[in-house]
Amino acid sequence: MADDQFKNVISHAKEYGFIFQSSEIYDGLSAVYDYGQCGALLKNNIKAYWWGAMVQMHENIVGIDSAIFMHPTTWKASGHVDAFNDPLIDNKDSKKRYRADVLIEDHVEKIRQKIEKELKKAAKRFGEAFDKEQYLATNSRVLGYQEKMKAIMDRFVKAMDAEDLADVKQLIEDEQIKCPVSGSMNWTDVRQFNLMFGTQMGSVAEGASTLYLRPETAQGIFLNYLNVQKTGRMKIPFGIAQIGKAFRNEIVARQFIFRMREFEQMEMQFFVRPGTEMEWYESWKEKRLAWHKSLGFDDSNYRFHDHEKLAHYANAAADIEFNFPFGFKELEGIHSRTDFDLKQHEEFSGKKLQYFDPEIGENYVPYVVETSIGLDRMFLAVLSKSLITETLEDGSKRTVLNVPAFLAPYKVAVLPLLKKDGLPEKAREVVNLLKFDHMVQYDEKDAIGKRYRRQDAIGTPLCVTVDHQSLEDNTVTVRFRDTMEQIRISMDELKALTSEKVSLSAQLGKLS
Ligand code: GAP
Repeated sequence: MADDQFKNVISHAKEYGFIFQSSEIYDGLSAVYDYGQCGALLKNNIKAYWWGAMVQMHENIVGIDSAIFMHPTTWKASGHVDAFNDPLIDNKDSKKRYRADVLIEDHVEKIRQKIEKELKKAAKRFGEAFDKEQYLATNSRVLGYQEKMKAIMDRFVKAMDAEDLADVKQLIEDEQIKCPVSGSMNWTDVRQFNLMFGTQMGSVAEGASTLYLRPETAQGIFLNYLNVQKTGRMKIPFGIAQIGKAFRNEIVARQFIFRMREFEQMEMQFFVRPGTEMEWYESWKEKRLAWHKSLGFDDSNYRFHDHEKLAHYANAAADIEFNFPFGFKELEGIHSRTDFDLKQHEEFSGKKLQYFDPEIGENYVPYVVETSIGLDRMFLAVLSKSLITETLEDGSKRTVLNVPAFLAPYKVAVLPLLKKDGLPEKAREVVNLLKFDHMVQYDEKDAIGKRYRRQDAIGTPLCVTVDHQSLEDNTVTVRFRDTMEQIRISMDELKALTSEKVSLSAQLGKLS
């Protein structure tokens, strides 16, 4: 069922101009995608929602746009040259390559699902009297599963911390984790693989230097931290946000736009006084979850996952996981990055990156709490939860993309009932009335019912139909995507109605 939904999302995304495989006429480029005419609009609207919530709504957060190319020492200082690796393992029979951590996490997830099954069975058996907490704390089978999950993760974290890749392999063998394709346990050794793409700047003759395509946008913020603080006269605590491309040579790239080699991040570094970072970390976890939940998808689609194995720069980290069609997976990360990055850049550049805090009369290197969300993953989350098939009263089916109206690619479709009698001209008047404020689509082809369905499929919240009566009294029919209800209003009221229904500012208002 979930599999079918995922296939539907992928084929719908292509059929309606949301996402295309990159370089499709050359048979595509693996894990690289292009956004089509509707996709680019939806993506821009998600960006606007993030930027609005983070930059526009916070006096102490400003936005920047730093270059993708950065001085190569950046990545030495940040630790990416030495530590931005994935542990890989190959199955000798299927010749498939896997991330060892993902194999182990998937295995642990299967154990977690066994607990869920036990809970469901018990809830059925005990009915109203069922006490979930008590059952989790006392049932011997459930306790056994929990202990096993913990033991596996503890061993994995310990092995990775000690760079003991042989034990990671041994863990996979001890847990009898099989290749999902061949079903065998014929594994190679585990090896580390760096995820950064390298390229050359300058001609070879002049001695070209190796650059990296940035694997995260955050370092562009760190390197500009003092520029922004000084020129913007920023006082701690303050944040710097940016949206931009990032590149990772993902070895196991799969699941459509979930894991890409070229993707976009929306990141914010929040600079705080040392010792206050945990407070801010908790506060940003809550704020970011609220941002997600205010989209109106069911709250049960979100959960936190606290990291046991921390990245080299973090002293606390959590993911906001989303219930994608293939299960709960990371959508956004919130990391307490300490003063690691700024201290490293001080050391490697020889430049001071300190802040004088007038309130306590001290100089210090600020601590940083980061929020980092993948724009493409957010796009997939929105698309997969919004795409639904409804069965109507007459038994027919309707495919609707019921995205929140402020995110919809087109806000209004203007449809002349007929292609004659002056109706197209009148419809153009409606387009001209609205196009300065909103993305409007004009469509005169096919029967009106078919045109409504086309707009439903790309998520257009309002369809405005112009008929003969419109010529007489300047009224039009407005049809709402979600309810299919139709109302007749004067053209004079149309601008206000549209703005009210698709307003980003109203959505931002929900957050404050
Ligand atoms: N600056 C911190 C950082 O980059 P991360 O957890 O590696 O942290 C942050 O990445 C977010 O970027 C993830 O939560 C995810 O949404 C997105 N992301 C990471 N790798 C991605 C990929 N290969 N394809 C699409 N999105 C990705």
